[in-house]
Amino acid sequence: MDNKLMLMIPGPTPVPEQVLLAMAKHPMGHRSSDFSAIMAEVTEGLKWLHQTQNDLLILTTSGTGAMEAGIINFLSPNDRVLVGCNGKFGDRWAEVAEAYGLQVEKITAEWGKPLDPAQFQEKLEADSEKTIKAVIVTHSETSTGVLNDLETINRHVKAHGALMMVDTVTSLGAYNVPVDTWGLDVVASGSQKGYMIPPGLGFVAISPKAWEAYKTAKLPKYYLDLGKYKKDAAKNTTPFTPPVNMFFALQAALRMMKAEGLENIFARHARLTQATRSAMKALGLPLFAADEAASPAITAVIPDTVDAEKVRSIMKKQFDIALAGGQDHLKGKIFRIGHLGFVSDRDILTAVSALEATLLELGYERFTPGAGVNAAAKVIADLQ
Ligand SMILES: Cc1ncc(COP(=O)(O)O)c(C=O)c1O
Repeated sequence: MDNKLMLMIPGPTPVPEQVLLAMAKHPMGHRSSDFSAIMAEVTEGLKWLHQTQNDLLILTTSGTGAMEAGIINFLSPNDRVLVGCNGKFGDRWAEVAEAYGLQVEKITAEWGKPLDPAQFQEKLEADSEKTIKAVIVTHSETSTGVLNDLETINRHVKAHGALMMVDTVTSLGAYNVPVDTWGLDVVASGSQKGYMIPPGLGFVAISPKAWEAYKTAKLPKYYLDLGKYKKDAAKNTTPFTPPVNMFFALQAALRMMKAEGLENIFARHARLTQATRSAMKALGLPLFAADEAASPAITAVIPDTVDAEKVRSIMKKQFDIALAGGQDHLKGKIFRIGHLGFVSDRDILTAVSALEATLLELGYERFTPGAGVNAAAKVIADLQ
């Protein structure tokens, strides 16, 4: 049967019906008072979600655009930056910084392993001249399913005084990121992830300290000059035409998130993560990331006796469940189960049972049928 697609990828994530219906309206003029009222409401909602009083700017970009904006507005050519690289997205921020002529020093870890905060500490403590201007880290590394220890890395950055710039593309709205308590300077994310709306908007939270740096930053910028967005946001408008129907979507999604509550959102993602991981263990499928560094958005599985791409193919063809594959050198080696945004306990139970059927079809018999579902159900019952 067609048209029952279930997205179990880390983005775009499933979109609730209220949100889809909210978008199905004529667009309104973006200079109208009606639009400004929506912008005021969603900006307040985004600040709530980010746990911040800092400026929260809304851009017409994907997550990469939001992150690039975060990097180019507060730095100058040749500035020295430390970039955490343990997956595709960390590598991307190093490439962006290099493209803009920054001096990039990478702190690396093997894909599948978390960054070591002590390596940041060592570099930062050795920098007595304060030549390191910013530290750039991907919180949840989607390509591998690893959650980096942002809180500890950030503590070292705070002790040094550099700007802390974070990709929270697959952690915001799934995991506790208390922007003001931690004092994060630049926090970037994108709409098609924990926000439960389609792709198209980027979000950046900016601290007063970053705005100080903005005054002397010399990298070129125009469309992504955040000063323009800040000035206009004060009047609840945007410098360029925004995708207004996406604002309708965002308004509906933020209302749903507020009704669920931050703590419940985080608890649900923790439960979905644990249920998925327990199910994979019960099925004898090796996990790519360790429990202590598990992303709240995605679980990567590195099967040793079945073909990851065959698993994805049967899941899609037979059950209309989309799983993500591996990226770069992990292509064909892993499959990734997304549990980010509008995902419920039922979705995990469904995906795990379809996965069991898929494994049996592939002749993989290292498990008792029902073991994965049973393990997931137990976690769901225990953590309810
Ligand atoms: C951690 C992370 N950073 C950045 C991006 C890039 O976002 P986009 O594809 O929206 O530009 C993604 C997308 O999956 C991501 O997962």
